[in-house]
Amino acid sequence: MELAQIIITEEEIKQRVAELGAQITADYQGRDLFVICILKGAAVFMSDLIRQIKVPVEIDFMSLSSYGASTKTSGVVRMLRDLDREIAGKHILVVEDIVDTGLTLSYLKENLMVRKPASLKICTFLDKPSRRQVDLKPDYCGREIEDYFVVGYGLDFNEKGRELPYVAIVKE
Ligand code: IMP
Ligand code: MG
Repeated sequence: MELAQIIITEEEIKQRVAELGAQITADYQGRDLFVICILKGAAVFMSDLIRQIKVPVEIDFMSLSSYGASTKTSGVVRMLRDLDREIAGKHILVVEDIVDTGLTLSYLKENLMVRKPASLKICTFLDKPSRRQVDLKPDYCGREIEDYFVVGYGLDFNEKGRELPYVAIVKE
């Protein structure tokens, strides 16, 4: 895999994650938060983010798949791993790496709402609004980007590049 250009530096990520953490802390004052990390892409972002959130946090993981080994969405969402615990009555924050077509998260939102959480919000590290196929707006977003395929900070291209501390565009 060759990289074309770094679009978000390690320093910028750190700064933005701190801002998001502060915003979430303010919004959830006096409440406990149940964070759902969408594997695998959001693992890096979630682990940094929860350390910037100053209300009590519980975490759990879900794994969904809408992609095969390509950069095109299939529109088919499969659940590969479900939560360990029930979420009824809890304040849920779904943490995702990137919202692209929105198909994955709109499926997930419906699936989670059936379980009757007290509230449900979405926090995504990146957003590509120009690619949206369904009406879905994240409640918190690290950065909106153009329609590039990017890797780093948890995001992958065929499972490569997740460990990079910055976000870079993949060379076509
Ligand atoms: P959606 O259902 O089209 O919104 O798909 C979102 C998922 O596609 C994300 O959770 C990522 O796993 C993957 N994805 C979309 N764009 C990118 C990208 O630029 N780099 C890496 N993964 C991406
Ligand atoms: Mg993902």
